[in-house]
Amino acid sequence: MAESIRILMCPPDHYDVDYVINPWMEGNIHKSSRDRAVEQWQKLHHVLKDVAVVDLVNPQKGWPDMVFTANAGLVLGDNVVLSRFFHEERQGEEPHFKQWFEDNGFTVYELDEDLPFEGAGDALLDREGRWLWAGYGFRSELDSHPYLAKWLDIEVLSLHLIDERFYHLDTCFCPLTGGYLLYYPGAFDSYSNHLIEMRVPVEKRITIEEADAVNFACNAVNVNQTIVMNKASDRLKESLQEVGFNIIETPLTEFLKAGGAAKCLTLRITEPVLEDVHANTPIESRILRMEGHLLDAGIMNTALDLVVDNGGSFKVLNFNLGIERQSTSVADVRVSAPSHQLMEEISRQLIDLGAVAPPQEVCDVKIETVTKAGVAPDDFYVTTIYPTEVRVNGEWSRVQEQRMDAAIVVRETNGQTTASCKILRDLAIGDRVVVDVDGIRTARKTESREQRTTQEFSFMGAGVSSERRVELVVEQIAWELRQIRDRGGKVVVTAGPVVIHTGGAQHLSSLMRNGYVQALLGGNAIAVHDIEQALMGTSLGVDMQKGVPVRGGHRHHLKVINTVRRCGSIAQAVEQGVLPKGVMYECVKNNIPFCLAGSIRDDGPLPDTEMDLIKAQAEYARLLEGTDMILMLSTMLHSIGVGNMTPAGVKMVCVDINPAVVTKLSDRGSVESVGVVTDVGLFLSLLVNQLEKLTSPYQLS
Ligand code: ARG
Repeated sequence: MAESIRILMCPPDHYDVDYVINPWMEGNIHKSSRDRAVEQWQKLHHVLKDVAVVDLVNPQKGWPDMVFTANAGLVLGDNVVLSRFFHEERQGEEPHFKQWFEDNGFTVYELDEDLPFEGAGDALLDREGRWLWAGYGFRSELDSHPYLAKWLDIEVLSLHLIDERFYHLDTCFCPLTGGYLLYYPGAFDSYSNHLIEMRVPVEKRITIEEADAVNFACNAVNVNQTIVMNKASDRLKESLQEVGFNIIETPLTEFLKAGGAAKCLTLRITEPVLEDVHANTPIESRILRMEGHLLDAGIMNTALDLVVDNGGSFKVLNFNLGIERQSTSVADVRVSAPSHQLMEEISRQLIDLGAVAPPQEVCDVKIETVTKAGVAPDDFYVTTIYPTEVRVNGEWSRVQEQRMDAAIVVRETNGQTTASCKILRDLAIGDRVVVDVDGIRTARKTESREQRTTQEFSFMGAGVSSERRVELVVEQIAWELRQIRDRGGKVVVTAGPVVIHTGGAQHLSSLMRNGYVQALLGGNAIAVHDIEQALMGTSLGVDMQKGVPVRGGHRHHLKVINTVRRCGSIAQAVEQGVLPKGVMYECVKNNIPFCLAGSIRDDGPLPDTEMDLIKAQAEYARLLEGTDMILMLSTMLHSIGVGNMTPAGVKMVCVDINPAVVTKLSDRGSVESVGVVTDVGLFLSLLVNQLEKLTSPYQLS
């Protein structure tokens, strides 16, 4: 018997499921049998007495969960950090545990009242004593971890719990003698899994399946080579035995009803301190300020969700709520993250949402120089579509040529600073590129309540676009198209071949004839099938009148390509009278510039298709300059490309039958995007119809 190991338990005299504070307790109120619980507890007690000395704390009436002594606090050497329970239901246990620790000679550390931490339920020492694993996400707050490091003088590795069934670290994670680790990876986010894998070599990691996890197999008490648990599958027992452990199963089903098992019912109170182990925590915090229609526009929710989803935690330091409908709010938020890398990631995302450092902490951007052409420094700031400013020598300057997915290059000539977006491949040696997240701010045009209502009116991304809703959106788009045309503005269309397959060619042609389109962007296919339809009446071999495949129709597009190639170009085909109608015909006739970006198929291409994609991209960008509105018609890939080249402020209308495409494209988080889930041919016909109504008494031909 290992005399030196002591364990604290609490007899289940007052144990019951009286409330619900974890998913296991749901449906189990007063469903556990006290007699059976006592019997199971005694068995566990008996088993443990063979391997350790068991001390008891007096159970207290009214605190049914006090049996779970793992949550009393976290012990290391003579020190204990007392628990601060997250739920009121357990907070009354704190003074009783505190008393016990004091009576037994421990130095007790207490966290602030509003900083939850649930003791050894959420903090587990590596059994070699090298570091402390600490969980957060449900019960304990990440911000409690730096205190553990400081008070207990140990390195803390924070793990983010993401499955509410495994709300305490000890429900899914169990460090074992000899550096082994028994755990359920599904309970952790990917960052935490990565951290575990970095610290524990693969031959020491014993991962379990969900079936074992829900039997609380990880909620095990390990003393030397013995592991005591509720229940384990044969496979798990074998793998533990293989590496020299002796498994004792003892049923604890009555306690599972409260969400606990063997480990929860115990607290190891002899945890030796290692000489050469010292405090260290990679946790970082910083304060960021959010400003705007934080509530109206849902920015605050988005921001705080984003912090938590990335494994960080936050504390809102102050929140100045705009009182009037039109006034904006300001909030200072302290954000913490378990590592520098995650802190940077979270900061970047918050900056994209418009967060800035509070005035006293604003500093200049960090800049690194390009040393290899076409390659940015590692931590370069990746741009968004939103207007961005960078601070150089204490002055903010607006980034030029704003677009997404670029780097920011800063130039200083004669004391004048300019900053502009540059795509990676254009970076030249010596370019000075903005890195990290300091000194950068983006202006998110935050929508007030009124703007949001109109957006919701028009936004169809939810996928429940009833026909009437489509009509309403079309009415609005028609009206805007009309405005843009009448003031000499610019509308660019990106279109895929589906426009032709769905019978949209005649309607798109009509828009072009009537001055509603100033440029067309697509690939080889839209032109091929448009011309196929104009020349042969089919699209991809399908008869456009009857809707049935035509015999030999699969050859049509090849013949068409061949014909145009003989003519020399689409324009020449029109001039020679070979191509008499259709979308491409209208482009030529109405001097509407177009760019057909590449083809991966080797059955063409048309002579006009630009097969050098870098040239095609440049041409797209040129044609997009000064655009007021982009109609994206059933072409995901070309539309994504176009979206990335376009700064915020340009209205985008994305039409696709697939709601996922619409959501992806119109989710630019800005007022200007409208998604319409519908058949594109139908959409175009409604649009032309609507424009006719607006245009009457003159008729659209
Ligand atoms: N009903 C208790 C709670 O939800 C169970 C505690 C289990 N303890 C543990 N260390 N996992 O707090």
